Amino acid sequence: MQSSEDSQLLNGKGKKHIVEVRAMELDDVHKVFHLGEKLFTANSVPNLYRTWDEFEVVNLYQTDTDTCLVAEVDEELAGFALGTVIEKNRSSWTYGYLVWLGVEPKFQRFGVAARLFRRFHELMLEKGARIIMVDTEMDNIPALRFFRKMGFNNAQEHVFLTMNVDDARRRYERKHPKEP
Ligand SMILES: CC(C)(COP(=O)(O)OP(=O)(O)OC[C@H]1O[C@@H](n2cnc3c(N)ncnc32)[C@H](O)[C@@H]1OP(=O)(O)O)[C@@H](O)C(=O)NCCC(=O)NCCS
Repeated sequence: MQSSEDSQLLNGKGKKHIVEVRAMELDDVHKVFHLGEKLFTANSVPNLYRTWDEFEVVNLYQTDTDTCLVAEVDEELAGFALGTVIEKNRSSWTYGYLVWLGVEPKFQRFGVAARLFRRFHELMLEKGARIIMVDTEMDNIPALRFFRKMGFNNAQEHVFLTMNVDDARRRYERKHPKEP
């Protein structure tokens, strides 16, 4: 079922714009991908272990259609919230995971992400989630402030380590040449 939340926001010049939050559709996929490319650059999220690429968007859209949302301002893509529901084996707990959240820079600080999150939160309640998870870089202050404002707490430090296995891979490939 498609659900949408219409509301208004004001821009700096006092002009009113309509913001609509709705389920993501096939036609949105490429726009969401391009907006994400702008937001999740190597500079702004240098260590992000989840990589933003076409497959990420297409896969989430395919597997989690009803938990992928977009926001439009005057019919222009203004933001997205892509999430999933996780049900753990041997546990009665259902978790909501907001995997990607992004707002077009010119529409930031107008409450677009807050609207997207409110709808996502509602969807998670409908799906029986008991906890909603998000994660972001430790120095992503806008995102951290945003998530705190939405009610997230209990931030847990999580150290992400990487190992460069390039040399080891070359040695391995010399030892185990691929069949022509
Ligand atoms: C984080 C992000 C989604 C927020 O979107 P947004 O639409 O601008 O957020 P909102 O306007 O709904 O902000 C709600 C509140 O969050 C906080 N907040 C949002 N952006 C902030 C910023 N740049 N600095 C400080 N606080 C901020 C404020 O408390 C704000 O309320 P206020 O404007 O009344 O002070 C947006 O900055 C973004 O797309 N960032 C790049 C992508 C990213 O890092 N995504 C999160 C990890 S996946």
